[in-house]
Amino acid sequence: MKKIILLSALMLTSLSSVAQSVTLRPDNIDEVLSQLTLKEKASLVVGAGYKSMLAGTFGFKVPVPGAAGMTRAVPRLGIPSIILSDGPAGVRIEPKRKRTDQTFYCTGFPIGSLLSSTWNPQLVEKVGGAIGEEALAYGVDVMLAPGMNLQRNPLCGRNFEYYSEDPLLSGRIAAAYVRGIQAQGVGACVKHFAVNNQETNRFWNDARVDKETLKTLYLKNFEYAVREAQPWTVMASYNRLNGIHTQEDKWLLTEVLRDDWGFEGLVMTDWTGRRNTAAQIEAGCDLMEPGVKSQIRELVRKVRRGELSEAALDVCVRRVLELVVKTPTFKGHKPTNAPDLKAHADIAREAAEEGIVLLENRAETLPLAAGTRIALFGNGSYALLAGGTGSGHVHRPYVVNLDEGLTHEGFAVSRDLSTRYKDYMAENRPRKKFLSGMLGSPAIPEMPLSREVVTAAAGQADCAVVTISRQAGEGGDRHLEDDFLLSETEKQMLADVCEVFHGQGKKVVVVLNVGGVVETASWKQLPDAIVLAWQPGQEGGDALASILSGRVCPSGRLPVTFPVDYFDLPSSAHFPYDYVGRGSMTAGRDKEKDVENVGFTDYAEGLDVGYRYFQKSGTPEVSYPFGYGLSYTTFQHSGPVVAGNAVTVSVKNTGSVAGKEVVMIMTPLLRAFGKTRLLQPGESVTLVLPIVTE
Ligand code: GLC
Repeated sequence: MKKIILLSALMLTSLSSVAQSVTLRPDNIDEVLSQLTLKEKASLVVGAGYKSMLAGTFGFKVPVPGAAGMTRAVPRLGIPSIILSDGPAGVRIEPKRKRTDQTFYCTGFPIGSLLSSTWNPQLVEKVGGAIGEEALAYGVDVMLAPGMNLQRNPLCGRNFEYYSEDPLLSGRIAAAYVRGIQAQGVGACVKHFAVNNQETNRFWNDARVDKETLKTLYLKNFEYAVREAQPWTVMASYNRLNGIHTQEDKWLLTEVLRDDWGFEGLVMTDWTGRRNTAAQIEAGCDLMEPGVKSQIRELVRKVRRGELSEAALDVCVRRVLELVVKTPTFKGHKPTNAPDLKAHADIAREAAEEGIVLLENRAETLPLAAGTRIALFGNGSYALLAGGTGSGHVHRPYVVNLDEGLTHEGFAVSRDLSTRYKDYMAENRPRKKFLSGMLGSPAIPEMPLSREVVTAAAGQADCAVVTISRQAGEGGDRHLEDDFLLSETEKQMLADVCEVFHGQGKKVVVVLNVGGVVETASWKQLPDAIVLAWQPGQEGGDALASILSGRVCPSGRLPVTFPVDYFDLPSSAHFPYDYVGRGSMTAGRDKEKDVENVGFTDYAEGLDVGYRYFQKSGTPEVSYPFGYGLSYTTFQHSGPVVAGNAVTVSVKNTGSVAGKEVVMIMTPLLRAFGKTRLLQPGESVTLVLPIVTE
């Protein structure tokens, strides 16, 4: 009898505890926290692994195939798993799924470097809004974007995703992008925090930077973004900073990010394997992505042994729950899987048109007269590189190539050349590599051109357009030869086209379809005009054609310096590393072996990055300076008048066509900037710009 009474008492107790278990709400997080078991707590700070990212390749059943990661659920307490997806140039998810004919393409927006070239935070916020809408439509809760590391050196493989050499431009553009996304009720994630300015040895490299340079440059842009936009999340980078993994650096993740800057959100790791999980928790890194189960076991073991305080774990768990309750998934949002891709394509085109930079325009070569017959050279003319590779890749519904854009604009494009290039590219398409569907493919080597082909083309055209294209991507840095520098094939193409077409009194325009800075000084005198298109997204061909035809007046300005020579850059002496090390994910636990395993990059140039260096007297001339860009019209500025923490500048369009003007206040560092709306000839506008002092 006693046993029955005891058993029923036990059952009542367990039932009452289940009956007492609560369901997560924004206002009962502490109560839910008190109900979580230790194992449940540990599972909440460790992601659900690679199954979401690799679902398209291996067919795993997940809510959003191709999304980079997920958190884990605790269903008994109403805690759902939330969805995290790349990437800065658009939502990156699998475009096709099993058992449905529906497609899930996402708009391919221009790369980060083009967005910053617009110098237009309002426009970038609009791009962020469209990306946020698409994320919401496809069931994504947090976008792993923007990528915003400072462009320390032009050979960094991911500069295409990043914004600038200047922290104010970078931080302000990032803040606008974050505001746009989060206005849709979807989270953003500023990355890669911090000092991840190269891809070589990125998992282990120790970036060695003095405190002043850190504060003034490499952290400063993140500070602007955090203070001005409060991103829901921050992604801690792979690398070390001054000997400590950023993901385990309490000074960086708690004292600077939270205590100094007032960051209120969650910190997640980049997609890292297991490191010192307890140290990450103690530093204030709240979520280990993509997450491996051994991290859960490690945390439970460390707490039980008293090697990690449960209170420290609770701080991170609370931030995970605070993130979860903000998300569309938690709020019961049902994905429509039907975003307005047409409206977003228009925004992508608008951004591309405003971020294209006119570098040369001798004798007003541009704009081209309507109906001009164009001989179009260069692979990129027929296979525009719309964006970079790696997690920054996007599965776009289409790409408008330059030949198509020019045709849409009413120009006559040489058919013979088109056939020749398309046949060549079909024969030389790179073999599909594992995960190339996810990460994009490398570019095709430039097609060699014979003099006869150029001469024949010149006979049937009024002018020539030559596209130089460059791919770049995550996981590897760029090279000098055939990358920063033009290849022999490209030099020969440019020389032949200029000689033949100039010999017939015909103009030559060069289009740079690149993800980062290239060498220009040695050849920029050859053509009559040069247009920097960056990697302009899926609408790039039409955007370029709008600029070449004069339908849109170019208003882009450089967010980064184009040096005459790569070795004029102080960072070139310390890129991509000073010592490469052998690489070891576990390095850092064994101090003696550290340098052998880790390797390091000495940021010995300090503040001498970009225009900060070239402003100094006695430094080399540059090919194109920071902030440079031409227009089809002219403007007159009056002012600036500084009043408090704002500066007022009036701008008048003194030319003959409508255009937009960028205003920069540099004293001598960039202190304020803004862009006018479209001004008709003779029209004026007054800009009031917030000015930063330090
Ligand atoms: C990558 C990238 C990061 C991306 C993440 C998820 O390695 O460094 O930018 O968001 O993994 O794909």
